[in-house]
Amino acid sequence: MSEIYRASTTAPVNIAVIKYWGKRDPKLNLPTNSSLSVTLSQNDLRTHTTASCSSSYPAEDSLLLNGKPQDVSGARTQACFRELRALRKEVEARDSKASKLADLPLKIVSENNFPTAAGLASSAAGFAALVRAIANLYELPADPTELSRIARQGSGSACRSLFGGYVGWEQGSSADGSDSKAFEVAPASHWPNMRAVILVVSAAKKDVSSTSGMQTTVATSSLFASRASETVPRRMKEMQDAIKNKDFETFAKVTMMDSNSFHATCLDTYPPIFYLNDVSRAAIKMVEQINTAAGKIIAAYTFDAGPNAVIYYLEENEKAVAGVFKTLLADKDGWSGERGAAVEGNYEVAEK
Ligand code: PMV
Repeated sequence: MSEIYRASTTAPVNIAVIKYWGKRDPKLNLPTNSSLSVTLSQNDLRTHTTASCSSSYPAEDSLLLNGKPQDVSGARTQACFRELRALRKEVEARDSKASKLADLPLKIVSENNFPTAAGLASSAAGFAALVRAIANLYELPADPTELSRIARQGSGSACRSLFGGYVGWEQGSSADGSDSKAFEVAPASHWPNMRAVILVVSAAKKDVSSTSGMQTTVATSSLFASRASETVPRRMKEMQDAIKNKDFETFAKVTMMDSNSFHATCLDTYPPIFYLNDVSRAAIKMVEQINTAAGKIIAAYTFDAGPNAVIYYLEENEKAVAGVFKTLLADKDGWSGERGAAVEGNYEVAEK
């Protein structure tokens, strides 16, 4: 009987407060701007992945996601497999006693505990978990920065899910992407009372994938160039300062303005891309009302490439933010029933 080698891991979802939108190199997933996110707690939204390899497996690598076979022949998944195998080969070349795993077929089994491809950053947790599970299987050094460089090639935003807490992704300038990696802005423990609530407007798959959306935005939006070259670099700095100083009002304002800016470039794309819907816009209004009632900014909305709202707030404002959403929206059309739950849960920031 041939041996089966196996390793498992989980990776959490991250939600960007400064959005990545635009690729300067689509093959290597090199972005046109740096970005910054908050990693949510592992207990809530996460991908669990087991990677195994064996000479007894069918020759082709395979990936099951939520029980369904996925195509692994795509360039992104292949790039991750290739890079990880190359690193394993180095281990095997150095240590003659190391088992020869790099050439064995891989079997990857992943489970998400949230809707896939609904603007809930499923690919981020997915590729982060895939890369770390294989790295564990191959007994590679688990340096999150190095693994982030590999996960980035699977899905750009995945590089940020290898760190907990507050995470940046430096766009880098090299042509080979060696300097386009995630970095820790602050651990979760630095600002532990940050919370997020996710309003699932729709659990359906998004109609414009982020990859194709980005390409058209870069090619056609007149707002895009100033966003990438001026707005985002300024906001990256403001956001890092806000996190360092635990300044929620600035954190929230920059988060909301950056979400607006990203969705403005989508609307400015030709043909236009609409990720937000009427229910998303109602959530924006509700956040404005909550902030007006509080007399200061205590809640911030942000939307990825889909209609679902993520609202950041501090734990002490739980009642005034998450509580208000729960009571006001529970019986409103669009927030319950078939189109998704009113409030999916409250999420803490994750430690790595
Ligand atoms: O990683 P991708 O290719 O799925 O792109 C994600 C893009 C956004 O979620 C909209 C923004 C971000 O920075 O996560």
